Amino acid sequence: MIINTLINNHKTQFDKYFFDLLKANLNSSILSKAMIYGSMNGGKRIRPFLVSQAAKIAKAKKSQYLRVSSAIEIIHSYSLIHDDLPSMDNDDFRRGKLSTHKKFDEATAILAGDALHDFSFQILSSRLTHTNPERRIQLINYLAKSLGHLGLVAGQSLDLLYENKRNNIKKIINMYKLKTGSLFEFSFSSPFILTNHPKEIIKFYQRYGLLFGLIFQIIDDLIDESKSFKLIGKTPGKDKKQGKNTLINLLGKNNAIKFCHEEVSAFIMNNNYFFKKYKILNDLLIYCLNRTK
Ligand code: IPE
Ligand code: IPE
Ligand code: MG
Ligand code: MG
Ligand code: MG
Repeated sequence: MIINTLINNHKTQFDKYFFDLLKANLNSSILSKAMIYGSMNGGKRIRPFLVSQAAKIAKAKKSQYLRVSSAIEIIHSYSLIHDDLPSMDNDDFRRGKLSTHKKFDEATAILAGDALHDFSFQILSSRLTHTNPERRIQLINYLAKSLGHLGLVAGQSLDLLYENKRNNIKKIINMYKLKTGSLFEFSFSSPFILTNHPKEIIKFYQRYGLLFGLIFQIIDDLIDESKSFKLIGKTPGKDKKQGKNTLINLLGKNNAIKFCHEEVSAFIMNNNYFFKKYKILNDLLIYCLNRTK
């Protein structure tokens, strides 16, 4: 089955599980409504899909990995609500609808993001995620590191600091790995933590996830430049307007794409053992390189 079909099928199943989880835990307050609005509004659910694919390889239990992918999607939703705020990327639209601060108000959007962040750790720390507390602490510790001053938030901070400044490739790649790569790294490797795989195996899937995230962000920048609001559900051309320092405006479109292909080829060549064993690893990277929304 082609990856796009797998992604769409997975999204239908995941959205149902995810909505049930939110409904079971949240209430009818404005804050809860904003949390649901910011997380149930039509994302691709690509990170949960990657968790499900890694879980197949790791042989992780569905009842466990669905909680991990929900925790990840909750974090992703918080990061987008905050990313769209006027003091950050100032985006009025997300996934074809008003962004959370436009639908509600700015303070509610900030708080909904905060509360989603906390809710994610509530999900992970529950016994339902894993009966062994060591596994749960390992996941919580790793997610916390992936998100904070050494992860996603550090990347978001650099993204803003780099606006309207000339920068070199190394710095931009580092910023991409932090703001986007960290959560992809966690997504792809978490099923191997759930199933207590050896360190070297976890390390490989971390590196795989990080590369996937890097390519995902470069292609996101490309999509920002070249696609319509109807297709992407967010304001196109926003990066240029905002003075974002992207790899595309540094290298040009063709060289940025070439860079992605070279990174992927080198990674596959250096990790042939895994790519020979699991064809899906190759297919997912090809999907990532070729995606258009
Ligand atoms: C957008 O992520 C933000 C980036 C890290 C590039 P997605 O493209 O996964 O957004 P949704 O969840 O599908 O809307
Ligand atoms: C978002 O990157 C990265 C995170 C939210 C961590 P972008 O700012 O490029 O994402 P979009 O384009 O607004 O979705
Ligand atoms: Mg941003
Ligand atoms: Mg943005
Ligand atoms: Mg973008």
